[in-house]
Amino acid sequence: MSIRIAPSVLSADLGRLAEEVRTVERAGADWIHVDVMDGRFVPNIALGPGFVRAVRVASPLPVDVHLMVVEPERYLEDFAAAGADLISVHVEATVHLQRTLSRIRALGKRAGVVLNPSTSEEAVRYVLGDVDVILVMSVNPGFSGQQFIPAVLPKIRKLREWIDRDNLKIDLEVDGGVQASTARQVVEAGARVLVAGNAVFGEKDRDEAMRVLRAAAGEP
Ligand code: DX5
Ligand code: ZN
Repeated sequence: MSIRIAPSVLSADLGRLAEEVRTVERAGADWIHVDVMDGRFVPNIALGPGFVRAVRVASPLPVDVHLMVVEPERYLEDFAAAGADLISVHVEATVHLQRTLSRIRALGKRAGVVLNPSTSEEAVRYVLGDVDVILVMSVNPGFSGQQFIPAVLPKIRKLREWIDRDNLKIDLEVDGGVQASTARQVVEAGARVLVAGNAVFGEKDRDEAMRVLRAAAGEP
């Protein structure tokens, strides 16, 4: 079983972005996670398409764009043009979810759907054919460094069941409070992509941070 780790640059030293991205690339990061916040869907403002472009230029790794914005359908072209490989939208933020997801695919990008901690897995039941990634939030989005909410574990298990039962080609990703003490539970529940902000960029030694996280997740 291979686990992928997606360090979130929200926790990086943004003044040295390119260098920061390269440190985690060298440490074996699989994707680079970029958190986009509009100050409306979440109580924080962060990172736009220009930033995604800078990450794209800094590293060949897949850029995983997490849109925490209302009406994300208005910005898909911008993020696609900026070089995103995966664009994820919250089910709580877009009215016509299926249309939004199929637009992402029409732009040639992988389509992701995100669930807040209080949102049921049922919210994605009828779009399973339209998504490449399901991202389960294990904190309420808005900030890095928050505490993991274990109540989301049964939701991860249920989604893993659906994916395996129908042999769906969907990556199951978890975001928020993932660190050495929580990675194992998340992987045991069925997640295969772990977003990590503080657990990676909060540590000086990025190689060591990634090793610790992988070991905690149960990888050799
Ligand atoms: C939370 C963001 C996360 C965050 C993760 O709103 O979506 O990606 O940066 O940070 P940690 O891993 O520190 O919880
Ligand atoms: Zn995120």
